[in-house]
Amino acid sequence: MRDIGFSFRDNSGTFTAEEFEKRVLANAEALHVAQKGEDRHAMSLGWHNVEEWAGDKWLTAYEKLAEKVRKEADALVVIGIGGSNQAARAVYEALGVKSGVELVWAGNSISAHSIREVIKSLENKKNIYIDCIAKNFETLEPGIGFRAMRDVLRSRYGKDYASHVICTFTEDTPAWKMAHEKGYELLPFPKNIGGRFTALSPIGLFPLCVAGMDIRKIAAGAADIRAKLLSGKDEDNIALRYATARTMLAEKGKTVELLSYFEPRFFRFAKWWKQLYGESEGKDDKGLLPMDTCYSEDLHSLGQFVQDGTPMLFESFLDVKEREEGYVLNADDVNDGFSYLDGKDFWEINKAAFEATVIAHSRRFPVLLFEVPAMDEETFGKLFYFFEFACYVTCNITGVNPFDQNGVEAYKKDMFRLLGKN
Ligand code: PA5
Repeated sequence: MRDIGFSFRDNSGTFTAEEFEKRVLANAEALHVAQKGEDRHAMSLGWHNVEEWAGDKWLTAYEKLAEKVRKEADALVVIGIGGSNQAARAVYEALGVKSGVELVWAGNSISAHSIREVIKSLENKKNIYIDCIAKNFETLEPGIGFRAMRDVLRSRYGKDYASHVICTFTEDTPAWKMAHEKGYELLPFPKNIGGRFTALSPIGLFPLCVAGMDIRKIAAGAADIRAKLLSGKDEDNIALRYATARTMLAEKGKTVELLSYFEPRFFRFAKWWKQLYGESEGKDDKGLLPMDTCYSEDLHSLGQFVQDGTPMLFESFLDVKEREEGYVLNADDVNDGFSYLDGKDFWEINKAAFEATVIAHSRRFPVLLFEVPAMDEETFGKLFYFFEFACYVTCNITGVNPFDQNGVEAYKKDMFRLLGKN
């Protein structure tokens, strides 16, 4: 299998290669702790061994239920927010629908316009299923999204609407019992994984299977990179190298990390990555602010700031290696000033823009480079596992708990008070 590659390019003098290699070795214990997995985090490490929630037993269960949905439906509404929808959406929006079932996203907004648009988009669908995904089912967005979708189903199917509902809830919770009593189909939300680490579980994999993705390839990609991250020399471990570079840059005042890409289909993947890092390491007054830039478009809006603005950021690039079908620019008799591009492919032009950007930006800060093998299922499995594991390593270096998110509760108290919740 082709590996994800990691390197960095630096002409800024921010740190020397020697300083970096020294720090990689000094941080080795943070890697060892992540490789072993800590007992104190046992209830959050269900993602660590890919087999547990993406092994044959569960993959077969997701596939069986997905096949039933695929036979009957042309739309699956995925209700969920944050960790409960970002991973599936990242792959879906990068690779597109591969079955006859479109995924529609709800329960991730409180906007009246958004819910109306979702409902409108379902009008021309012949048969709809919904999958409501929530770890606690106390989160407002999926709660009200589920209500709205039940209305839609009831108005279509009357009393039989329950046979169109799947709930991915935590076993033995009030929500699980409620779903069971109502006769909804149930999938378990892993008790031992927090939302943002659930890409390789029913949360990420079931909707993708309905959309026709090969979830066995996603799981195989994850298992392959896991084996590499858990073995080999410390100094070659790309999670340790990435985590070390990030924390060294933070010490130098580079407190914003831009995940940058020249392939717009990474837009949703970047949202997944932002949640994973923002919510895991942004605590105790520590952590990098994870942001993203979609190039070349953002070179025309944020490129100026990146090159010349407040020196608070660095970039990590996702660079896709496998050449995809291109589009060649034919020569043209209109004298438009672009004849130097006659016969060139969009793919090559994009790569030249990428290379030029790396050269220019690496004069300002070290540019971290990820070689992404291809836009396919196996690669997304690798990316999910890699970034989850590297996040754990980073948090071990900075000394924060990657698996809690107490800060998220602050606004909720005020919101619930304003909405009259007891
Ligand atoms: O990572 C997390 O735990 C959170 O961001 C959750 O994914 C998010 O808040 C949604 O929670 P729930 O699935 O309980 O609705």
